[in-house]
Formats: sequence, C-alpha cells, structure tokens
Amino acid sequence: MKLLITGASGFIGSALIRRLVADGHQIMGLSRSPERLLKTQTAALQVVRTLEEIDAEESIDAIINLAGEPILDKRWSDARKQLIYNSRIDTTTGLIALIKRLKTRPKVLVSGSAIGFYGSCPGDRLLDEGSEGLPGFTHQLCLDWENKALEAQSLGVRVCLLRTGVVLGQGGALQRMLLPFRLALGGPIGDGQQWFSWIHLDDMVAIIQFLLAHEVLTGPFNATAPEPVTNSVFTKALGRALHRPTLLPMPAFVLQWILGEGAELLCEGQRVLPARLLEAGFEFRHPDIDGALNQILS
Ligand SMILES: NC(=O)c1ccc[n+]([C@@H]2O[C@H](COP(=O)([O-])OP(=O)(O)OC[C@H]3O[C@@H](n4cnc5c(N)ncnc54)[C@H](OP(=O)(O)O)[C@@H]3O)[C@@H](O)[C@H]2O)c1
Repeated sequence: MKLLITGASGFIGSALIRRLVADGHQIMGLSRSPERLLKTQTAALQVVRTLEEIDAEESIDAIINLAGEPILDKRWSDARKQLIYNSRIDTTTGLIALIKRLKTRPKVLVSGSAIGFYGSCPGDRLLDEGSEGLPGFTHQLCLDWENKALEAQSLGVRVCLLRTGVVLGQGGALQRMLLPFRLALGGPIGDGQQWFSWIHLDDMVAIIQFLLAHEVLTGPFNATAPEPVTNSVFTKALGRALHRPTLLPMPAFVLQWILGEGAELLCEGQRVLPARLLEAGFEFRHPDIDGALNQILS
C-alpha cells in the first residue's frame, strides 16, 4: 500500500512509519521541515512540504492524519489555542481538497482526534464512543476536527477517527514526566483521584494498522487502554517502575500557573474505555499500566 501521513515527524507518526515500512508499505510524509524528517527517519521515505505539491495522478491508498501543534508544550493563551485549533483544521481542510483533486481517491482516512472530545469529566463516569462531550475548548476542537475529516465520507472515503488518550512510550508525554520522578520529586497531581486514560505507543500503532485493515470499521474509536487508572495509581506505578518514592503531591494550582487553562486536562481527567475497538476484536498488547511502564522503562 502507499500511505500519506501528516504529522510524520511526530511521536506517533515516527513509530508508525517504522512499523509500516517494516511491513513493506510505501510512505509519503508531510512535514514543514522535510530535511529534518529525512534525517530522523532511517526508512526510505518520500517527503512533501505541502499537500499542494502532490500530483493529481498520484496513487494513494490510505491517509493517516496526525499533524497538529503540540497541546501541552506551552501555556494556553488565546493565541496559542488558535494555533492548536488552526493547525489541525487547516491540515484536515487541505486533505479534503487533496482527496477531491486526486484522480484515484484513497480508500480510507484515519484521522486524529483525542479524548479531549469528551471535555473535562471529573468523577468515575465511564466514557465510551457514545458518550456526549461536555462543552469547552478541547471538545469544540475535537468536534470540528472530526467533522472536517468526516467530509471525506461524501467523497467515497471510509473515515475512522482516533480519540486518543495519553500515549506512553519512549518520548512524548512520559519523557516530560520522568525528570521529577527520577529526582524523587514525583507525586500525584492534586488529590490524585482524577482518571488517567493512557495507551502504550505500540498499541497506538497497532490500532491504526487494525483500522486500516478492517474495511467495515468507520467512525470514532477511543484509542485508550482497556484499564484506565487514577492519577494516584499511575503515579505509584511510575514510582515502582523507576524504583523511586512518590510522596510529594503537585498542587493543582501550580499546574494551573504553569499550563493555564490546559491544566484542566491533567487535574480533572476522564475515564475512557475503548468499547468499539474491543467489540471489533482488537487485542491490546499492553492492557495494564504496570506492564506497560515496565516494558517502556526497562
Ligand atoms: N501523543 C499523545 O499523547 C496524544 C494524545 C492525544 C491526541 N494526540 C494527537 O495525535 C496527533 C499526533 O500526536 P504526536 O504525539 O505524534 O504529536 P507530535 O509529536 O507533537 O507531532 C505533531 C506533528 O504535527 C506537525 N505540526 C506541529 N505543529 C504544526 C503546525 N502548526 N501546523 C502543521 N503541522 C504541525 C509536526 O510536523 P512537522 O513539524 O514535521 O511539520 C509534527 O510531526 C496530534 O494531533 C495529537 O494532538 C496525541
């Protein structure tokens, strides 16, 4: 298969490309910095800087859409939120225009979204793909991002949406959490009772492959492990995996000061279940947090 991947240089995109190339697929990656992408990928790769460069005669079987300004790298200001929003909507709008232009249309678009779709949901309520989202910035962002991707359906393309939890692997969010824990300064956030819906990077890549392969699957899929944990359970598991104590709590107001409104993602949490993936027969390689962290950190 020939696959076009946006966000090809990212944490998920890089791991996905390694897997797909190993399986014999041809990859075209979109990156604003093609030279940087080519340097970091050992695999043979065709890279484009813009979607407009892609010829209408190009034959692309599938598109995976992962591009977007990082969510929690910087404090959320109005300008930052606009950048986070525009980077996703503009790339997806560009993909719809590309699909219209291509002489042979791809069969499937697997497009990013996040569990932020459900908004901040304090408490123990279980969320599956049928749950409604609570209003707020992340809900509106994911809703508009998903709706833009779904426009491909009217062009005859199967669309799957990845409502992704926090992806754990070597790099990404876990990398940023490690330093305080290694210094024995790690601890729960706030009262630690908020839910943390996570997924191992290997399972994230396998889910994308599963959705590509199963032609009957469409619509939203929660890309989260089947065993979400509270922040307190996650903190203890991370401490165990690193052989470090986890005694010092991080007060919620400190995170709010560092991240602004974005702190709500870590302080309020969501308890999400991958109901549709389980129903479709997807088997998680890393369903529990201890096993996942030990595999990543060993
Ligand atoms: N990782 C997670 O825990 C997680 C959780 C939930 C949802 N997601 C979603 O899954 C997608 C992939 O995640 P990831 O962790 O792989 O992300 P990442 O490592 O931050 O990579 C994002 C990619 O998007 C591109 N990008 C960044 N800013 C952009 C902008 N302003 N305009 C256009 N492209 C831009 C970058 O490509 P270039 O710089 O090469 O152009 C980069 O390759 C993201 O959309 C993210 O929101 C991730």
